Amino acid sequence: PKTIFSGIQPTGVPHLGNYLGALKQWTSFQNTETESTKLIFCIVDLHAITSPQKASNLRQWKKEMLTTLLAIGLNPDRCIIFEQSRVPAHSELMWILSCISSTGRLSRMTQWKSKLGISEEHHSLEDKSTETLKLGLFSYPVLQAADILVHRATHVPVGEDQAQHLELTRDIVGAFHHNYGKVFPLPATLLSPAKRVMSLSDPTQKMSKSAPDPKSRILLTDSPTSVQGKIKVALTDSLETYGITYDPQKRPGLSNLIEIYAHIQGREDFEHVASEFEGLTKKVFKERVADCINESLESIRSEYTRITETEGDGFLEKVVREGSAKAANSAEETMVKVREALGLL
Ligand code: TYM
Repeated sequence: PKTIFSGIQPTGVPHLGNYLGALKQWTSFQNTETESTKLIFCIVDLHAITSPQKASNLRQWKKEMLTTLLAIGLNPDRCIIFEQSRVPAHSELMWILSCISSTGRLSRMTQWKSKLGISEEHHSLEDKSTETLKLGLFSYPVLQAADILVHRATHVPVGEDQAQHLELTRDIVGAFHHNYGKVFPLPATLLSPAKRVMSLSDPTQKMSKSAPDPKSRILLTDSPTSVQGKIKVALTDSLETYGITYDPQKRPGLSNLIEIYAHIQGREDFEHVASEFEGLTKKVFKERVADCINESLESIRSEYTRITETEGDGFLEKVVREGSAKAANSAEETMVKVREALGLL
């Protein structure tokens, strides 16, 4: 059976990169997939604590994330929407998978290095700079593999930054099958067309929640004025005489805005999009991009407000409790097979 699984960290309201790179696809599966396809989406709170958070912040961010997932149109009657920590099987499978995951393989993953601010070529765990590396951050990708495998997912829609984690997941499947026999399907990576939305203030970096400059990203609940302001000051270039052209190498900032504009409309003909703005100044172009973003966020914003103002915490708790119960059933089916395969049962 086809099972689509994906996860997102509860960092509060997600940004446009999360939306175009992942969340928009999640909602579209509700229309494109037949009823027999399982859709499972997880708020990965255990991943969020790989850097310690204040309890009250984490609670608030989880709530904001859940509200956003509903506001973008995920239907809890069609999808399983749940919190990772409410389904202990994720952690249980992680331990089992960590027993067949090599530290050498994990040491070549790029994410913990970028979080520690060391270069990606740096491979050695013996280096001084890794002395403070926490085991949880280092084994983060194994928990991610467990998330996917515990639901025996066949397809995982993500942005490009997660591709390496999915390769590792497939390697772990290979190691598991080698040791214990076949239990899991090999999960395929589904990259969205907008696989890497770039920062508005530094178009060489991906748009991210952790960047210090809040103007580098657009949050899905940003007000129209805030969106206009952020796009207005988005870093482009001073090649005014060239007009609006699509050239990611030479004009990364401008090209990022063209891509955002195109992806919102489900288009990928970036050169053609650029040509539609021929003769316009960057100022006018940016106003059009901001309008386009605002139009697409309008219903998300109003739905977000409606949920917070009229539904309240009881409703959110009910959604996540019911989703987590369904997810626990899905995970338990797998865990029975896993425990049998290992001789734990
Ligand atoms: P997270 O929470 O950082 O991001 C959620 C999703 O958004 C995508 N994304 C982007 N796509 C395009 N451009 C960007 N600038 C951009 N920034 C983020 C991410 O690729 C992701 O799809 N480790 C994962 C969460 C996770 C997970 C999983 C995902 C945990 N377990 C199992 C899939 C399957 C993460 O931190 O995503």
